[in-house]
Amino acid sequence: MSDSKVAIVTGASRGIGFSVAEALAKAGYHLAICGTREETVNAAAEKLSIHKVEVLPRVVNVADGEAVQAFVQEVAKHFGRLDVLVNNAGITRDGLSMRMKGEDWQAVIDTNLSSVFYASQAVLKPMMRAKAGRIINISSVVASMGNPGQINYCASKGGIDAMTRSLAREVGSRNITVNAIAPGFIGTDMTDELGDDAKDALIAQVPLGRLGSPEDIAATVLFLSGESGGYITGQVLHVNGGMYM
Ligand code: NAI
Repeated sequence: MSDSKVAIVTGASRGIGFSVAEALAKAGYHLAICGTREETVNAAAEKLSIHKVEVLPRVVNVADGEAVQAFVQEVAKHFGRLDVLVNNAGITRDGLSMRMKGEDWQAVIDTNLSSVFYASQAVLKPMMRAKAGRIINISSVVASMGNPGQINYCASKGGIDAMTRSLAREVGSRNITVNAIAPGFIGTDMTDELGDDAKDALIAQVPLGRLGSPEDIAATVLFLSGESGGYITGQVLHVNGGMYM
């Protein structure tokens, strides 16, 4: 069994997921990361290995329950322990409700919400055996605020918040905490798709006057992962520069 703690981060090839994995690696966690493209997941693993931790990179579609279960089982077997799960992978397929295609609704629900169920269910066995664990779900501020053009995305993230509370109640007695982090607008590839005008309009809504950085979210994950977060469960932590209070 590994002496160091072990964390799984989904969707860690770039953006928030990569920053989260990097913060955990710097803190000495061994990692298992997944994404949809071999090239980018392997490249991320190589960068993370600089921090002298072991990184297991895998191509896993988080919307595929069986693939997620096989991934988690492999990780638990490989390292002999599993301390932290960060459900980060997510997509957008925006469009106004009247015209939203069923496939765009379904893809977002499957990738953002069902994935959290699959991965959380899979880690419960090793975490319950260890009587310890941390599950951290990356939600979004828009689950609380609403956002036109994102009913699929908002529904998926609202589902995450509700799932977080229910699972936290189920597994608290086993010393497993379950929390969500709701980022505001964070500068990543996801937000780079917006034009400069749209970005300026977003920043105008933020009392701290800037987009968040992936590192802002990574620091919160690190806090919840360690001893410092030990008495926090069932919460949605908003990390948004004050845009929603
Ligand atoms: P991103 O688009 O830069 O990265 C998403 C990651 O998820 C990539 O590594 C991608 O390969 C992976 N991924 C996507 N579909 C996948 C699948 N089916 N299976 C496995 N991996 C998959 O996104 P970003 O901005 O880093 O977002 C990360 C999380 O944070 C998402 O859950 C997103 O909804 C959430 N978030 C982002 C905000 C932002 O402003 N960027 C704001 C609020 C929440």
